[in-house]
Amino acid sequence: MTNQKNILITGGAGFIGSHVVRLFVQNYPEFKIYNLDSLTYAGNLENLKDVEDYKNYHFLKIDITDAEAVNQAFEQYKFNKVIHLAAESHVDRSITDPLAFARTNIMGTLNLLQAALNLWKGDFKDKLFYHISTDEVYGALGETGLFTETTAYDPNSPYSASKASSDHFVRAYGETYGLPFIISNCSNNYGPNQFPEKLIPLFINNIISGKALPVYGDGNYTRDWLFVIDHAKAIDLIFREGELKATYNIGGFNEWKNIDLVKLLCQQMDEKLNKPSGTSEQLITYVKDRPGHDLRYAIDATKINKELNWSPSVTFEEGLSITIDWYLDNTEWMEKVTSGDYLKYYQEQYSSAE
Ligand code: NAD
Ligand code: DAU
Repeated sequence: MTNQKNILITGGAGFIGSHVVRLFVQNYPEFKIYNLDSLTYAGNLENLKDVEDYKNYHFLKIDITDAEAVNQAFEQYKFNKVIHLAAESHVDRSITDPLAFARTNIMGTLNLLQAALNLWKGDFKDKLFYHISTDEVYGALGETGLFTETTAYDPNSPYSASKASSDHFVRAYGETYGLPFIISNCSNNYGPNQFPEKLIPLFINNIISGKALPVYGDGNYTRDWLFVIDHAKAIDLIFREGELKATYNIGGFNEWKNIDLVKLLCQQMDEKLNKPSGTSEQLITYVKDRPGHDLRYAIDATKINKELNWSPSVTFEEGLSITIDWYLDNTEWMEKVTSGDYLKYYQEQYSSAE
């Protein structure tokens, strides 16, 4: 780890990125950690309040779609390792504005790849471009089976198509120009600081305010949930010990049908809010389905478990309880991120649930 001095983390003001930045800033005082983020609606520097005064932490407000600004940052700060998380990340938004996803997720990634190539000029010793991706690139599973690292890409939403494209470009830069890269594809994350457009924080917020819980379709869609801090730890491990050119699937072996998850969430919320059992469940409202809704995602995380000795540190029930407590303790955070543009988004997305 001797020459790994300047580490660029993109998207560090977002949900997963903020947990990764915190872990790196706290664990690696000898490295300079640069958090590059344009602060979209999903980026929030409050997420990093506790580490913003650390000497090894630096924030750069840059949009990755701005090739010149990205190049300049690479030249000025001489990054030798990159962990790339910045992205448009919400499937529903990708259905209404696919071009924004192409711009950030595809062109933004290309700008970073090109800037790394320009700076490193073929000297790839101690260099790394680590790209954070999603299990959604593999498409949808039926009732059985798991995504492995060799499952063929088959994305269905504009979001997953843009992430698949960015994965392909990263791999192509590796094969064509020799750029040292690693890609990891993770399942659904949950935990503190997740923007309340995603299922779990949205439903926590709605229960707090007594609003409908809009379950898409019949609620029988299945996702594989992982606590965000376990994802951050996996990223750290892969960053340090992962094999170049490799893909790692990260997941919790923790599948839940949406409706079962929502019922567990309702149960835990009733207990924490001292409400009679069954109160929150009454808010469940079935609404129009998401177009192209993937039936099931499930990750086979055997490779990272066997090769890097990684496994999730908490059960889903524990992680969910920690998550709910965080939202109940951080109502100001929630109020801040759900004002302004969020209200317009909510009205447009959920008019049928009101
Ligand atoms: P998020 O939406 O919470 O955060 C994204 C961050 O990227 C924000 O801080 C935002 O300001 C920043 N950003 C967006 N566009 C940008 C641009 N053009 N230039 C600079 N910064 C920009 O996302 P997340 O859920 O934390 O996901 C982070 C990464 O992990 C994404 O690449 C996503 O595809 C991937 N991923 C997410 C999950 C999940 O369950 N959330 C699972 C697997 C993989
Ligand atoms: O699998 C990894 C992916 O997980 C990440 O790459 C994405 O960035 C992340 O957003 C997430 O995608 P999903 O579409 O699975 O997450 P979301 O929280 O939007 O939805 C989870 C499930 O809940 C999905 O089946 C849709 C359903 N849902 C979601 C919302 C927001 C509802 O039924 N109602 C809702 O209001």
